[in-house]
Amino acid sequence: MRSGVVGYGNMGAALARALRGRSEVFVYDIDPARREQAISEGFAVARSVHFLVRESDVLFIAVKPKDVRGVLEEIADSVGDKIVASIAAGVSLELIDSLLGGRGRVVRLMPNINLLVGRGAVAIAFGDGLGEEEKEKVKELLSDCGSLYEVPEHLFDGFTALAGSGPAFVFSFIEALALAGVREGFSYETALRIAVDTVGGSADLLKKLGGTPGEWTVKVASPGGTTVEGLAYLEKKGFRGIVIGCVRKTSKRAEELRG
Ligand SMILES: NC(=O)c1ccc[n+]([C@@H]2O[C@H](COP(=O)([O-])OP(=O)(O)OC[C@H]3O[C@@H](n4cnc5c(N)ncnc54)[C@H](OP(=O)(O)O)[C@@H]3O)[C@@H](O)[C@H]2O)c1
Repeated sequence: MRSGVVGYGNMGAALARALRGRSEVFVYDIDPARREQAISEGFAVARSVHFLVRESDVLFIAVKPKDVRGVLEEIADSVGDKIVASIAAGVSLELIDSLLGGRGRVVRLMPNINLLVGRGAVAIAFGDGLGEEEKEKVKELLSDCGSLYEVPEHLFDGFTALAGSGPAFVFSFIEALALAGVREGFSYETALRIAVDTVGGSADLLKKLGGTPGEWTVKVASPGGTTVEGLAYLEKKGFRGIVIGCVRKTSKRAEELRG
């Protein structure tokens, strides 16, 4: 399969890099500087979006949501039966499909920034014009992006809040831990490294050894010890309620922006 990526910005470039291990990748961007960057990274760069359509089996649309309509209208006549996958936030399968003539050969993706290191959490939903075998091929194509979650479209706003915005919430927590380390007497650089290792290591532990966060919390917190003292403070301040409320507000905002 040959992939075409329209828009070589932050996410398009990360997507193109993740796709290159699984398929031949062509890239197109209206910005000449971005095209130069793609060439310097070894990608085949198309001279027009029409050339890209001709050369690709699956087209990935990685432009800003406001530019999606223009790109889809431009390729509508030439896209034929090719599969078109969009990563644009808030742009529905129905809209993508209607702009392409209603064949249903469309895919909606919601990756997160962790795609940059091949560790993205990516939501995927398919249009009704794709068969099971084709869906598997698309998933296989995306397998170096990170973890794929096939979710119904009505959960995309929630996924956007949890996984799309989630890295910003985790960065915020890491920053707070690092500052806490400074307060305890470490330099900021050391405290930040400790915080990153602690958060990354805990996530790896959950992934590799299984179990719930609650079960592991009990293993860390010994009776009457130090950890439970810290946990009691988090509970008193409503830490979990704050996180749940934060994701809810984010999800509602995603819904509002979709209109
Ligand atoms: N950032 C995230 O965490 C995240 C997560 C999930 C999904 N997304 C989605 O990812 C998409 C891309 O976001 P981004 O942050 O990567 O944007 P970006 O850095 O602005 O990249 C988009 C690129 O597409 C180019 N472009 C615009 N119109 C074009 C056209 N007609 N043909 C070809 N190229 C065109 C832009 O050029 P100009 O700059 O000259 O316009 C720019 O180089 C968005 O739809 C966003 O919703 C982002």
